[in-house]
Amino acid sequence: MASFFIKTFGCQFNELYSAAVADALLRGGNQRSDDVEHASLVIVNTCAVRRKSEEKAFSFLGEAAKVIDAGHIVFMGCVASLDHERARRIAGHGLRIVEGTKSLDEVLAVIGTLAPIVLGDDPPRSLFPTADIEIIRGCESYCTYCIVPTSRGREVSIDAADVLSGATKAIDHGFSELLFLGQNINRYQSKVGGLVDLMTLVDGMKGSFWFWFLSPHPANFRPDEVRRLMELQHIEHRLHLPLQSGSNRLLERMNRRYTVSQYEQLAEPVRTADGWALTTDIIVGFPGETDDDFARTVEAVRQFRFDAVFLAKYSDRPGTPASRMQDKVPAGVIDQRHALLLGVVQELSEESNQRMAGRTVEVLVLSWREPDRGFGRSIDGKNVWFASPGRQPSAGEFVHVVVDHGSREGVYGTAVW
Ligand code: SAH
Ligand code: SF4
Ligand code: F3S
Repeated sequence: MASFFIKTFGCQFNELYSAAVADALLRGGNQRSDDVEHASLVIVNTCAVRRKSEEKAFSFLGEAAKVIDAGHIVFMGCVASLDHERARRIAGHGLRIVEGTKSLDEVLAVIGTLAPIVLGDDPPRSLFPTADIEIIRGCESYCTYCIVPTSRGREVSIDAADVLSGATKAIDHGFSELLFLGQNINRYQSKVGGLVDLMTLVDGMKGSFWFWFLSPHPANFRPDEVRRLMELQHIEHRLHLPLQSGSNRLLERMNRRYTVSQYEQLAEPVRTADGWALTTDIIVGFPGETDDDFARTVEAVRQFRFDAVFLAKYSDRPGTPASRMQDKVPAGVIDQRHALLLGVVQELSEESNQRMAGRTVEVLVLSWREPDRGFGRSIDGKNVWFASPGRQPSAGEFVHVVVDHGSREGVYGTAVW
């Protein structure tokens, strides 16, 4: 039996794999350790999307290697695909490296050589009430700034029958939300067709559940597909559609393969629907970004009135085409632009949340915080803090909340029964 510690960096894919590994270990009779010092097995699940995330992974690995033998450390995820030598130099030659291109089955096979595991077929319990379901692995979109095609490898669509049986099991086991994952999820293809066909089948399943998906790529999406998805019964009322830049010139240099006006056509159905949220990812300071390019991004962010924006400062990733571009934006300028845009983004989020005042929204309860405050997420993706006089709902329940007011972080109100 092992006492295991898992450290997770990065995106939902890593969250999912870490949760599945933890479940298999717990089922195998192992115990979770609260810290690295008391662990006999350490798993480091890493992200390489920016230099900082990569450095965090190596620094955690260094800390772990001080207290535990490298043969009992599993170094997995995106950083594990990229620099084996540095990882072994830090931790020692016995380090168990599992590249980020591997499937969950392959990851579990390695873990199974280090500790007893028992495979289960229901979604990881620790993510409850959300069941994360991977439908396409890898990425072949080759945005010029991005390490993911290298760190996650070729695209593999998961068989529709497996996706649907995973979704059915999740609902049968009481999960309330299904989150379908793919780096460029519109590239999903299987016997049942593409993303919209698969989501339509999911929507036909019996039960009380919500679902949504991450991340669609604007270049592989059509407005009629967005409209079809928006008509589904169980879909959450939000679309996360990464824009990255508001300048067509930069979008081209990023190899994003769409223009701002094409993006606008996709956003339009969402922007004109009552109660739907639109969120995005933006990179500030991509090589060659001029004041004018940046001004266009600020303008686009205002034009699309994003409900939330994940802002990233451009970070050079070794081996990517952008890293070889000569016209890098100085760090000081990136910081300034980032601060300016962050102000705009926060203002928009606050306005979006304040507009909710007086409305009644459907909320998925995520936790209950004593003495009297519940926390959840609305069907359009907002954080919701609510009072619930006379009844304490549990995680996974759906409630209606009358919104009193909103702030930059979310909305506040009272549950009605
Ligand atoms: N597949 C998803 C997201 C992948 S990574 C998509 O295409 O939208 C998540 C986000 O990290 C990206 O959307 C991008 O905004 C950001 N990102 C990726 N590489 C980056 C880099 N080199 N520097 C800064 N941000 C980056
Ligand atoms: Fe990276 Fe682009 Fe693939 Fe997203 S679609 S993971 S940004 S290469
Ligand atoms: Fe990071 Fe890899 Fe995810 S680079 S964002 S962990 S796919």
